[in-house]
Amino acid sequence: MREFIKKSSFSWLITLLPLLIELFCVPYSTWHERAFWKQLLLFSGFSALSFLVFVLALHPLTAIFKKNQWLKLLNRHRRQWGLACFYYAFFHMCCYLLMKQVLYGRIDFKYFLHPVIFPALIAIFLLLILAVTSNNASIRFLKYKAWKKLHKLTYVVEGLIFFHILLQGGWSILWAFLFFVPLVFLQKKRSKLKR
Ligand code: HEM
Repeated sequence: MREFIKKSSFSWLITLLPLLIELFCVPYSTWHERAFWKQLLLFSGFSALSFLVFVLALHPLTAIFKKNQWLKLLNRHRRQWGLACFYYAFFHMCCYLLMKQVLYGRIDFKYFLHPVIFPALIAIFLLLILAVTSNNASIRFLKYKAWKKLHKLTYVVEGLIFFHILLQGGWSILWAFLFFVPLVFLQKKRSKLKR
Protein backbone atom coordinates (compact mmCIF):
# COMPACT_ATOMS: atom_id res chain seq x y z
CA MET A 1 0.00 0.00 0.00
CA ARG A 2 2.79 2.42 0.98
CA GLU A 3 4.59 1.69 -2.30
CA PHE A 4 1.40 2.40 -4.30
CA ILE A 5 0.80 5.72 -2.49
CA LYS A 6 4.34 6.82 -3.41
CA LYS A 7 3.69 6.31 -7.12
CA SER A 8 2.57 9.07 -9.48
CA SER A 9 -0.18 6.70 -10.71
CA PHE A 10 -1.78 7.09 -7.25
CA SER A 11 -1.82 10.88 -7.46
CA TRP A 12 -3.27 10.69 -11.01
CA LEU A 13 -5.94 8.26 -9.81
CA ILE A 14 -7.03 10.72 -7.09
CA THR A 15 -6.86 13.61 -9.58
CA LEU A 16 -9.07 11.87 -12.14
CA LEU A 17 -11.47 10.15 -9.72
CA PRO A 18 -14.00 13.05 -9.52
CA LEU A 19 -14.00 13.38 -13.32
CA LEU A 20 -14.55 9.63 -13.82
CA ILE A 21 -17.45 9.61 -11.33
CA GLU A 22 -18.98 12.63 -13.05
CA LEU A 23 -18.64 11.09 -16.53
CA PHE A 24 -20.77 8.14 -15.41
CA CYS A 25 -23.36 10.18 -13.49
CA VAL A 26 -24.25 13.02 -15.85
CA PRO A 27 -27.57 12.59 -17.72
CA TYR A 28 -26.18 13.92 -21.05
CA SER A 29 -29.54 13.87 -22.86
CA THR A 30 -30.72 16.75 -20.61
CA TRP A 31 -27.86 19.09 -21.65
CA HIS A 32 -30.32 21.84 -22.61
CA GLU A 33 -31.91 21.91 -19.11
CA ARG A 34 -30.84 24.09 -16.19
CA ALA A 35 -30.66 21.07 -13.82
CA PHE A 36 -27.93 19.48 -15.99
CA TRP A 37 -25.70 22.57 -15.77
CA LYS A 38 -26.40 23.02 -12.07
CA GLN A 39 -25.23 19.45 -11.46
CA LEU A 40 -22.03 20.05 -13.44
CA LEU A 41 -21.41 23.37 -11.66
CA LEU A 42 -21.90 21.89 -8.21
CA PHE A 43 -19.81 18.84 -8.99
CA SER A 44 -16.85 20.72 -10.49
CA GLY A 45 -17.08 23.42 -7.78
CA PHE A 46 -16.96 20.93 -4.92
CA SER A 47 -14.16 18.96 -6.64
CA ALA A 48 -12.02 22.12 -6.92
CA LEU A 49 -12.88 23.11 -3.35
CA SER A 50 -11.99 19.66 -1.96
CA PHE A 51 -8.58 19.70 -3.66
CA LEU A 52 -7.93 23.25 -2.45
CA VAL A 53 -8.82 22.55 1.18
CA PHE A 54 -7.07 19.15 1.20
CA VAL A 55 -3.82 20.56 -0.22
CA LEU A 56 -3.87 23.54 2.18
CA ALA A 57 -4.62 21.25 5.15
CA LEU A 58 -1.82 18.76 4.33
CA HIS A 59 0.91 21.27 5.14
CA PRO A 60 -0.22 22.10 8.73
CA LEU A 61 -1.24 18.48 9.34
CA THR A 62 2.27 17.18 8.52
CA ALA A 63 3.79 19.86 10.75
CA ILE A 64 1.45 19.05 13.66
CA PHE A 65 1.66 15.23 13.34
CA LYS A 66 5.38 15.10 12.55
CA LYS A 67 5.69 11.35 13.08
CA ASN A 68 2.78 10.32 10.86
CA GLN A 69 4.24 8.48 7.87
CA TRP A 70 0.95 8.42 5.88
CA LEU A 71 0.75 12.22 5.91
CA LYS A 72 4.36 12.42 4.72
CA LEU A 73 3.51 10.08 1.83
CA LEU A 74 0.43 12.12 0.84
CA ASN A 75 2.44 15.33 1.12
CA ARG A 76 4.58 14.17 -1.84
CA HIS A 77 1.59 14.72 -4.15
CA ARG A 78 0.69 18.26 -2.99
CA ARG A 79 1.88 19.89 -6.20
CA GLN A 80 -0.15 17.54 -8.42
CA TRP A 81 -3.33 18.00 -6.33
CA GLY A 82 -2.83 21.77 -6.28
CA LEU A 83 -2.87 21.62 -10.08
CA ALA A 84 -5.98 19.43 -9.91
CA CYS A 85 -7.70 22.24 -7.99
CA PHE A 86 -6.96 24.59 -10.88
CA TYR A 87 -8.16 22.09 -13.55
CA TYR A 88 -11.51 21.55 -11.82
CA ALA A 89 -11.94 25.27 -11.05
CA PHE A 90 -11.28 26.10 -14.73
CA PHE A 91 -13.76 23.41 -15.82
CA HIS A 92 -16.25 24.90 -13.32
CA MET A 93 -15.84 28.38 -14.86
CA CYS A 94 -16.24 26.96 -18.41
CA CYS A 95 -19.44 25.17 -17.31
CA TYR A 96 -20.76 28.52 -16.04
CA LEU A 97 -20.04 30.26 -19.37
CA LEU A 98 -21.45 27.34 -21.42
CA MET A 99 -24.58 27.29 -19.25
CA LYS A 100 -25.22 30.98 -19.99
CA GLN A 101 -24.68 30.39 -23.72
CA VAL A 102 -26.94 27.31 -23.89
CA LEU A 103 -29.77 28.61 -21.68
CA TYR A 104 -29.80 32.31 -22.67
CA GLY A 105 -28.09 32.27 -26.08
CA ARG A 106 -25.34 34.70 -25.01
CA ILE A 107 -22.68 35.37 -22.39
CA ASP A 108 -23.08 38.75 -20.77
CA PHE A 109 -19.72 39.61 -19.18
CA LYS A 110 -21.43 41.88 -16.64
CA TYR A 111 -22.25 38.64 -14.75
CA PHE A 112 -18.59 38.64 -13.69
CA LEU A 113 -19.22 41.77 -11.62
CA HIS A 114 -21.80 39.96 -9.47
CA PRO A 115 -20.60 39.83 -5.80
CA VAL A 116 -20.63 35.99 -5.87
CA ILE A 117 -18.70 35.69 -9.14
CA PHE A 118 -16.20 38.56 -8.85
CA PRO A 119 -14.12 37.02 -5.97
CA ALA A 120 -14.20 33.68 -7.84
CA LEU A 121 -12.89 35.33 -11.00
CA ILE A 122 -9.92 36.83 -9.12
CA ALA A 123 -9.36 33.44 -7.46
CA ILE A 124 -9.21 31.71 -10.88
CA PHE A 125 -6.65 34.26 -12.06
CA LEU A 126 -4.50 33.70 -8.94
CA LEU A 127 -4.86 29.93 -9.29
CA LEU A 128 -3.58 30.25 -12.86
CA ILE A 129 -0.47 32.12 -11.64
CA LEU A 130 0.08 29.45 -8.98
CA ALA A 131 -0.44 26.62 -11.49
CA VAL A 132 2.07 27.93 -14.07
CA THR A 133 4.71 28.50 -11.38
CA SER A 134 4.23 25.12 -9.68
CA ASN A 135 7.41 23.60 -11.10
CA ASN A 136 11.12 23.41 -10.30
CA ALA A 137 12.06 25.66 -13.24
CA SER A 138 9.99 28.51 -11.69
CA ILE A 139 11.62 27.98 -8.28
CA ARG A 140 15.07 28.25 -9.91
CA PHE A 141 14.04 31.28 -11.99
CA LEU A 142 12.36 33.25 -9.15
CA LYS A 143 14.70 32.03 -6.36
CA TYR A 144 13.15 30.06 -3.51
CA LYS A 145 12.35 33.04 -1.20
CA ALA A 146 10.45 35.02 -3.85
CA TRP A 147 8.71 31.86 -5.09
CA LYS A 148 7.57 31.00 -1.56
CA LYS A 149 6.25 34.55 -1.13
CA LEU A 150 4.34 34.28 -4.42
CA HIS A 151 2.79 30.98 -3.34
CA LYS A 152 1.43 32.64 -0.20
CA LEU A 153 -1.27 33.79 -2.67
CA THR A 154 -2.98 30.48 -1.87
CA TYR A 155 -4.18 32.14 1.35
CA VAL A 156 -5.77 34.95 -0.68
CA VAL A 157 -7.45 32.30 -2.86
CA GLU A 158 -8.70 30.63 0.33
CA GLY A 159 -10.40 33.88 1.45
CA LEU A 160 -11.87 34.63 -1.99
CA ILE A 161 -13.39 31.16 -2.34
CA PHE A 162 -14.80 31.40 1.18
CA PHE A 163 -16.70 34.53 0.08
CA HIS A 164 -17.67 32.99 -3.30
CA ILE A 165 -19.48 30.22 -1.41
CA LEU A 166 -20.69 32.21 1.60
CA LEU A 167 -22.35 34.91 -0.52
CA GLN A 168 -24.44 32.29 -2.35
CA GLY A 169 -26.54 32.14 0.85
CA GLY A 170 -28.80 29.29 2.04
CA TRP A 171 -27.07 25.94 2.60
CA SER A 172 -23.90 27.26 0.95
CA ILE A 173 -23.19 29.24 4.15
CA LEU A 174 -22.98 25.95 6.03
CA TRP A 175 -20.62 24.48 3.39
CA ALA A 176 -18.38 27.56 3.57
CA PHE A 177 -17.98 27.15 7.33
CA LEU A 178 -17.69 23.34 7.22
CA PHE A 179 -14.77 23.48 4.78
CA PHE A 180 -12.94 26.59 6.01
CA VAL A 181 -13.30 26.63 9.82
CA PRO A 182 -11.30 23.37 10.36
CA LEU A 183 -8.73 24.56 7.79
CA VAL A 184 -8.17 27.92 9.50
CA PHE A 185 -8.00 26.13 12.87
CA LEU A 186 -5.19 23.87 11.56
CA GLN A 187 -3.34 26.80 9.99
CA LYS A 188 -3.52 28.78 13.27
CA LYS A 189 -2.30 25.76 15.25
CA ARG A 190 0.61 25.34 12.88
CA SER A 191 1.64 28.99 13.08
CA LYS A 192 1.59 28.76 16.91
CA LEU A 193 3.98 25.77 16.67
CA LYS A 194 6.32 27.78 14.46
CA ARG A 195 6.65 30.62 17.01
C1 HEM B 1 -14.74 32.57 -12.53
C2 HEM B 1 -14.79 31.52 -11.77
C3 HEM B 1 -16.05 30.94 -11.17
C4 HEM B 1 -17.35 31.08 -11.56
C5 HEM B 1 -17.90 31.86 -12.74
C6 HEM B 1 -18.16 30.31 -10.63
C7 HEM B 1 -19.55 30.21 -10.66
C8 HEM B 1 -20.33 29.54 -9.77
C9 HEM B 1 -21.77 29.54 -9.74
C10 HEM B 1 -22.69 30.27 -10.72
C11 HEM B 1 -22.16 28.76 -8.71
C12 HEM B 1 -23.61 28.46 -8.26
C13 HEM B 1 -24.07 27.12 -8.80
C14 HEM B 1 -25.54 26.92 -8.46
O1 HEM B 1 -25.85 26.60 -7.30
O2 HEM B 1 -26.36 27.09 -9.36
C15 HEM B 1 -20.96 28.25 -8.07
C16 HEM B 1 -20.95 27.39 -7.00
C17 HEM B 1 -19.81 26.90 -6.43
N1 HEM B 1 -18.51 27.22 -6.74
FE1 HEM B 1 -17.92 28.50 -8.20
N2 HEM B 1 -17.34 29.72 -9.70
C18 HEM B 1 -16.03 30.07 -10.00
C19 HEM B 1 -14.90 29.69 -9.32
C20 HEM B 1 -14.86 28.78 -8.28
C21 HEM B 1 -13.67 28.27 -7.68
C22 HEM B 1 -12.24 28.70 -8.05
C23 HEM B 1 -14.06 27.35 -6.72
C24 HEM B 1 -13.26 26.51 -5.76
C25 HEM B 1 -11.96 26.39 -5.71
C26 HEM B 1 -15.51 27.32 -6.73
C27 HEM B 1 -16.28 26.53 -5.92
C28 HEM B 1 -17.66 26.50 -5.93
C29 HEM B 1 -18.46 25.66 -5.05
C30 HEM B 1 -17.93 24.68 -4.01
C31 HEM B 1 -19.80 25.92 -5.36
C32 HEM B 1 -21.03 25.27 -4.71
C33 HEM B 1 -21.45 26.05 -3.48
C34 HEM B 1 -22.74 25.51 -2.87
O3 HEM B 1 -23.69 25.19 -3.60
O4 HEM B 1 -22.82 25.44 -1.64
N3 HEM B 1 -15.97 28.20 -7.70
N4 HEM B 1 -19.87 28.76 -8.73
